[in-house]
Amino acid sequence: MSELVRFGVSLEKPLLERFDALIRNRQYTNRSEALRDLIRRELVRKEWREGGEVAGAITLIYDHHTRDLMAKVTDTQHDFQKVIISTQHIHLDHRNCLEIIAARGKADDVQRLADALTSIKGVRHGTLSMSSTGREIG
Ligand code: NI
Repeated sequence: MSELVRFGVSLEKPLLERFDALIRNRQYTNRSEALRDLIRRELVRKEWREGGEVAGAITLIYDHHTRDLMAKVTDTQHDFQKVIISTQHIHLDHRNCLEIIAARGKADDVQRLADALTSIKGVRHGTLSMSSTGREIG
Protein backbone atom coordinates (compact mmCIF):
# COMPACT_ATOMS: atom_id res chain seq x y z
CA MET A 1 0.00 0.00 0.00
CA SER A 2 1.21 3.52 -0.82
CA GLU A 3 2.19 6.06 1.81
CA LEU A 4 -0.76 8.03 3.21
CA VAL A 5 -0.61 11.81 2.94
CA ARG A 6 -2.85 14.12 4.97
CA PHE A 7 -4.11 17.36 3.54
CA GLY A 8 -6.62 19.97 4.66
CA VAL A 9 -9.76 20.78 2.71
CA SER A 10 -11.80 23.98 3.15
CA LEU A 11 -15.49 23.77 2.31
CA GLU A 12 -18.51 25.99 2.83
CA LYS A 13 -20.52 24.68 5.79
CA PRO A 14 -23.72 23.90 3.83
CA LEU A 15 -21.72 21.97 1.23
CA LEU A 16 -19.96 19.95 3.93
CA GLU A 17 -23.31 19.20 5.59
CA ARG A 18 -24.69 17.91 2.30
CA PHE A 19 -21.55 15.84 1.75
CA ASP A 20 -21.85 14.31 5.24
CA ALA A 21 -25.52 13.50 4.64
CA LEU A 22 -24.64 11.91 1.31
CA ILE A 23 -21.88 9.72 2.69
CA ARG A 24 -24.03 8.69 5.69
CA ASN A 25 -26.63 7.59 3.19
CA ARG A 26 -24.05 5.57 1.27
CA GLN A 27 -22.80 4.04 4.52
CA TYR A 28 -19.26 5.35 4.41
CA THR A 29 -17.64 5.24 7.83
CA ASN A 30 -15.58 8.38 7.28
CA ARG A 31 -15.02 11.33 4.93
CA SER A 32 -11.60 10.12 3.79
CA GLU A 33 -12.93 6.89 2.32
CA ALA A 34 -15.79 8.76 0.60
CA LEU A 35 -13.36 11.30 -0.85
CA ARG A 36 -11.00 8.54 -2.05
CA ASP A 37 -13.90 6.88 -3.90
CA LEU A 38 -14.96 10.16 -5.51
CA ILE A 39 -11.42 10.75 -6.72
CA ARG A 40 -11.13 7.18 -8.07
CA ARG A 41 -14.47 7.56 -9.85
CA GLU A 42 -13.24 10.69 -11.62
CA LEU A 43 -9.99 8.94 -12.57
CA VAL A 44 -11.99 6.05 -14.07
CA ARG A 45 -14.08 8.57 -16.07
CA LYS A 46 -10.86 10.13 -17.32
CA GLU A 47 -9.55 6.72 -18.44
CA TRP A 48 -12.77 6.16 -20.42
CA ARG A 49 -12.74 9.64 -21.97
CA GLU A 50 -9.12 9.34 -23.00
CA GLY A 51 -9.63 5.95 -24.61
CA GLY A 52 -7.22 4.01 -22.45
CA GLU A 53 -7.37 0.36 -21.46
CA VAL A 54 -10.48 -0.11 -19.34
CA ALA A 55 -12.63 -2.84 -17.83
CA GLY A 56 -16.39 -2.95 -17.60
CA ALA A 57 -19.47 -5.07 -17.15
CA ILE A 58 -22.41 -5.08 -19.53
CA THR A 59 -25.72 -6.43 -18.32
CA LEU A 60 -28.61 -7.29 -20.60
CA ILE A 61 -32.16 -8.35 -19.86
CA TYR A 62 -34.01 -9.98 -22.71
CA ASP A 63 -36.83 -12.31 -23.59
CA HIS A 64 -35.27 -15.35 -25.22
CA HIS A 65 -38.53 -16.10 -27.08
CA THR A 66 -38.01 -13.00 -29.26
CA ARG A 67 -37.26 -14.18 -32.76
CA ASP A 68 -33.54 -14.22 -33.72
CA LEU A 69 -32.60 -12.29 -30.58
CA MET A 70 -30.31 -14.89 -29.01
CA ALA A 71 -28.53 -15.44 -32.33
CA LYS A 72 -27.90 -11.70 -32.65
CA VAL A 73 -26.60 -11.45 -29.08
CA THR A 74 -24.24 -14.37 -29.77
CA ASP A 75 -23.13 -13.05 -33.20
CA THR A 76 -22.30 -9.66 -31.69
CA GLN A 77 -20.24 -11.26 -28.96
CA HIS A 78 -18.27 -13.25 -31.53
CA ASP A 79 -17.56 -10.00 -33.39
CA PHE A 80 -16.07 -8.56 -30.20
CA GLN A 81 -14.41 -11.68 -28.80
CA LYS A 82 -11.09 -9.84 -28.39
CA VAL A 83 -12.54 -7.59 -25.64
CA ILE A 84 -14.84 -10.11 -23.93
CA ILE A 85 -13.34 -11.89 -20.92
CA SER A 86 -16.39 -13.93 -19.95
CA THR A 87 -20.13 -14.14 -20.37
CA GLN A 88 -22.59 -15.43 -17.82
CA HIS A 89 -26.13 -16.32 -18.81
CA ILE A 90 -28.78 -16.64 -16.11
CA HIS A 91 -32.33 -17.85 -16.84
CA LEU A 92 -34.34 -15.44 -14.66
CA ASP A 93 -37.72 -17.00 -15.30
CA HIS A 94 -39.65 -18.75 -18.07
CA ARG A 95 -39.15 -15.84 -20.49
CA ASN A 96 -36.41 -13.55 -19.25
CA CYS A 97 -32.67 -13.97 -19.37
CA LEU A 98 -29.95 -11.96 -17.68
CA GLU A 99 -26.61 -11.86 -19.42
CA ILE A 100 -23.51 -10.38 -17.78
CA ILE A 101 -20.56 -9.73 -20.05
CA ALA A 102 -17.18 -8.85 -18.58
CA ALA A 103 -15.03 -6.87 -20.99
CA ARG A 104 -11.55 -5.39 -21.04
CA GLY A 105 -9.89 -3.39 -23.78
CA LYS A 106 -9.84 0.02 -25.39
CA ALA A 107 -12.62 2.24 -24.04
CA ASP A 108 -14.04 2.81 -27.53
CA ASP A 109 -14.25 -0.93 -28.25
CA VAL A 110 -15.96 -1.73 -24.93
CA GLN A 111 -18.42 1.15 -25.48
CA ARG A 112 -19.14 -0.04 -29.06
CA LEU A 113 -19.78 -3.56 -27.77
CA ALA A 114 -22.20 -2.23 -25.13
CA ASP A 115 -23.99 -0.08 -27.74
CA ALA A 116 -24.21 -2.96 -30.21
CA LEU A 117 -25.72 -5.30 -27.61
CA THR A 118 -28.14 -2.92 -25.92
CA SER A 119 -29.50 -1.68 -29.26
CA ILE A 120 -30.51 -5.17 -30.44
CA LYS A 121 -34.25 -5.20 -30.91
CA GLY A 122 -35.89 -7.05 -28.02
CA VAL A 123 -33.24 -6.28 -25.41
CA ARG A 124 -35.41 -4.87 -22.63
CA HIS A 125 -32.69 -3.29 -20.60
CA GLY A 126 -28.98 -2.91 -21.02
CA THR A 127 -26.35 -1.16 -18.92
CA LEU A 128 -22.64 -0.59 -19.05
CA SER A 129 -20.85 -0.33 -15.74
CA MET A 130 -17.63 1.52 -16.49
CA SER A 131 -14.74 0.36 -14.37
CA SER A 132 -11.00 0.33 -14.43
CA THR A 133 -8.25 -2.20 -14.93
CA GLY A 134 -7.02 -0.73 -11.61
CA ARG A 135 -3.58 0.17 -12.94
CA GLU A 136 -4.07 3.92 -13.28
CA ILE A 137 -6.17 4.76 -10.23
CA GLY A 138 -3.99 3.71 -7.31
NI1 NI B 1 -31.94 -17.83 -20.53
